[in-house]
Amino acid sequence: MCGIVGYVGSRECTEVLLNSLSKLEYRGYDSAGIAVFENNVIKTQKSKGKIADLIAKMENEGRLEGHCGIGHTRWATHGEPSDINSHPHGNANVTIVHNGIIENYKKIKEFLERKGYVFESQTDTETAAKLLDYFYEGNPIAAIQRVLDEIEGSYALGIMFKDYPDRIYAVRKDSPLIVAVGDNESFIASDVPAVLQYTKKYYLLEQDEIAVLDKNGVEFYDDHGAPIKKELLTADFDMEAAEKGGFAHFMLKEIHEQPTAVRTTITPRISDGMPNLEECGMTYERLKNYNNIFVVACGTAMHAGLVGKYVIEKIARVPVTVDVASEFRYRDPILTDKDLVILVSQSGETADTLEALRLAKRNGADTLSIVNVKGSSIARDSDMVLYTHAGPEISVASTKAYMVQLSVFYLIAFSIAYAHGKISMEECKRLVAELQNVPNVIEEILKTPDSCQYVASQLVNSENLLYIGRGLDYALSMEGSLKLKEISYIHSESYAAGELKHGTISLVTNGMPVIAVATQRNLFDKTVSNVKEVKARGAYVILVTHKCKTVDSDAADCVISLPTIDDLLMPMTAVVPLQLIAYYTSVLRGNDVDKPRNLAKSVTVE
Ligand code: AGP
Ligand code: GLU
Repeated sequence: MCGIVGYVGSRECTEVLLNSLSKLEYRGYDSAGIAVFENNVIKTQKSKGKIADLIAKMENEGRLEGHCGIGHTRWATHGEPSDINSHPHGNANVTIVHNGIIENYKKIKEFLERKGYVFESQTDTETAAKLLDYFYEGNPIAAIQRVLDEIEGSYALGIMFKDYPDRIYAVRKDSPLIVAVGDNESFIASDVPAVLQYTKKYYLLEQDEIAVLDKNGVEFYDDHGAPIKKELLTADFDMEAAEKGGFAHFMLKEIHEQPTAVRTTITPRISDGMPNLEECGMTYERLKNYNNIFVVACGTAMHAGLVGKYVIEKIARVPVTVDVASEFRYRDPILTDKDLVILVSQSGETADTLEALRLAKRNGADTLSIVNVKGSSIARDSDMVLYTHAGPEISVASTKAYMVQLSVFYLIAFSIAYAHGKISMEECKRLVAELQNVPNVIEEILKTPDSCQYVASQLVNSENLLYIGRGLDYALSMEGSLKLKEISYIHSESYAAGELKHGTISLVTNGMPVIAVATQRNLFDKTVSNVKEVKARGAYVILVTHKCKTVDSDAADCVISLPTIDDLLMPMTAVVPLQLIAYYTSVLRGNDVDKPRNLAKSVTVE
């Protein structure tokens, strides 16, 4: 999604704005711009394309000079990517940058046009800028409050008023925004990495709170205009963590961070060998009461929920329904106050998942979120939250976040199974010990990526590809397929291995790659039969399985053998080769691995 930054202090703000925007590039964007107070006049420079294109424009036109400004990277929702639709938007009196969607912008635009306003762009954002101008009578906060009463939708706004040079106003609803403070300087940003090179001290702006920044500090007001005090937080990671750490891409770095991320996530939640989720109020007593669980998420987070479903149902015998958030919201789910709805989100800002959370709460269900970004909207709006501790995940393709989401689902499954009396304490402790060993196994697998590099070399020119599996392997193959297609742009789909013969096997042609995941030993022979069915039709088969399982040489062209652990936990180790295959294939195809086309790291619009 887009990025917002702002700076006021003694530094040259153009440099700060560009540096900060560059740290948000991973969020995905199509244009960029800044506005700066230059000799008490608000001046704007903006451009379609990358930040590099904006810098080139600045070199031609000359850089804006000043100590107060706002910046934006846009991910277009209303109006094509173009210079004129880029942010900032506004006029000489008031200028803004915006993340989100003004859903009722057409009505506002018609009203303002009747008042004589002329619009230059096709964006919804411009209506908010001109409405601020319309309501402004000398008091910025009063004008902001009146605009908030009128607009509907999601927004994070950075605002400058001509009459208040060297001051920035900020407000948000549903789109994230932080306010950071340094020595005689203040910042706004969509995410913490944007300011880490300057400060680690920041505030989380809550819904409809207004922040007023100048070089001496920040004041906060609630949506009635009353001053409020807020907690100052300290970022628990530094620039180093937000950089690549010597890896070629953030994605590879984050794949290698998985063992540590799992250890950091599960260790504080294990006491005396048993899972302990009481930090969020999830006691065994409370878990015993849930007889129906919903998991709601998007993309990779939903795939983690699929694995969670299989594991919870297998050992706790509690029914679990998994939905993509955008479907859950509109299918009138049957929810009661006896149900638990688990929302999974790395960013904690995914619009569909956030709205699904609100639907669940309106229906009286208990809500638990599994989130990686502290203080994010989904985390703050949930009844209970279990933070994953993967550190910042920069690459658009989610890897370590998926891994730690799985680890939390295993802790939840073990807890529910024990609470419902389905497993003994001894069995629960055995499973927890198996989980604690997984990071070591992942480290082993990461030492020998060559088979994955070889497989990538066999896939690089493919156009279509199938992932197949049964049970947990089928759930896992969903994630393998998404990883590959979103960064290599090769079309792939995941299919239940046993279902192939009911139609889809017609797609199998000579040389078509099929990646078969067969880690569940009770289903191994069945899956191998399906492998032979596609092999007989010319498929190029890659089999991912246990070291302890062997196949006839004519069954698979390439076998990736994994260290043998409890089948129940194999998704956490078997996903690693699938991540690496996707990564190396994308690299071989010369793609922008960390910032794949059309994608954003956090989809904060519907
Ligand atoms: C994962 O590789 C994708 N980039 C995407 O599917 C992502 O998982 C999805 O958008 C959900 O994001 P969230 O976890 O931040 O809610
Ligand atoms: N809806 C606004 C636009 O299309 C903002 C999009 C964004 O969040 O970048 O310009």
